[in-house]
Amino acid sequence: MGSLHLDASLAKTPSVVSVVSAHAPSPEEVQAEAGRLFGPLSKLGWSMNECLLYAPLTLQINRLKKETDAVVLAHSYQTPDIMYGIADFVGDSYELSKKAMESPASTIVFCGVRFMAETAKIMNPQKTVLLPAPDAGCSLSESITADDVRLLKRENPGCPVVVYVNTSAEVKAESDVCCTSANALKIIQALPDNKIVFIPDEFMTKNLQKLTDKQLVGWGGRCIVHERFGKDQVLAVREQFPGVKILAHTECPPDVIGQVDLAGGTGDMIRYMKSSDAKTFMLVTECGLGDRMRAELPEKRVVGTCNLCPYMKKNNLLNVLQVLQSARPEQVVDIPEPVRIKAHAALQRMFELSK
Ligand code: 13P
Ligand code: SF4
Repeated sequence: MGSLHLDASLAKTPSVVSVVSAHAPSPEEVQAEAGRLFGPLSKLGWSMNECLLYAPLTLQINRLKKETDAVVLAHSYQTPDIMYGIADFVGDSYELSKKAMESPASTIVFCGVRFMAETAKIMNPQKTVLLPAPDAGCSLSESITADDVRLLKRENPGCPVVVYVNTSAEVKAESDVCCTSANALKIIQALPDNKIVFIPDEFMTKNLQKLTDKQLVGWGGRCIVHERFGKDQVLAVREQFPGVKILAHTECPPDVIGQVDLAGGTGDMIRYMKSSDAKTFMLVTECGLGDRMRAELPEKRVVGTCNLCPYMKKNNLLNVLQVLQSARPEQVVDIPEPVRIKAHAALQRMFELSK
């Protein structure tokens, strides 16, 4: 392969500086907020001047959160200004779904993609769940419909359907148990059945098949971010950085997974990096995770390439501010009650089997 791309992916949104608050903060408040932002963001190359430009906006969002009894939950693939400027919690799909249940706030602003916000709503129908970017989809979620699941069930009578969380509420409603990257294998092993329909990620199914004696029946969905990684990229990094630990998301192709030190979800990768004595890591996943690790573990080095998720990056400080000020109908997550009840059962079973 060609030269390696060391990606800092600072997806800054310069237009934010033109936002003028109706409750303009004092210069002292802006200075203090910029200092708070500078802590983590300086590890990613942000200057104090850049933090000063963003500070009025993060102050305004954080004030509005208090006034509207809202929390911001952000996935680790979000941009650093969201993760360190306004998020109350940053995590993987599983951690975020638990946080959505634990938080006493009446409103959840989801800086992630639609299936994550839907999961929060399925588990918390009494809360208002807002998705700043209503068109933040997911190629895996869009690869399968409820009709497809019904067909799979007819073709595989008696087999339980395990559904990856990266799916619509309607697809979850047709399934027996949900899973995330953090607990997929545990859920498969916990079921008494020897043949399991596991949907919709083709690569994740193939990767898990190598770890279980059970027969997995898959689907052809793919993550457009992780399917782009190739074995050659991983081998080139191994050669260039002796001692590097290479951690890949389970959504990656099997030949990539065959070359890495850890295959798992984003939470697994973070835990591995934190507990490892190694100094150099390649994170075969979306660029946001590398940003997060550079900010939080500056003593470790993240090398190699990463890919951006165009859906995850649809959230920004401006649409978060707007959704808190006045949410448009399409930004309010709503799930028909009959679908929600059935999808809730699949998620509830996941929580029980993950204990
Ligand atoms: P995690 O649950 O591992 O964070 O994965 C979410 C996701 O969308 C991966 O592409
Ligand atoms: Fe979906 Fe892939 Fe984006 Fe995750 S990274 S939200 S699986 S498209």
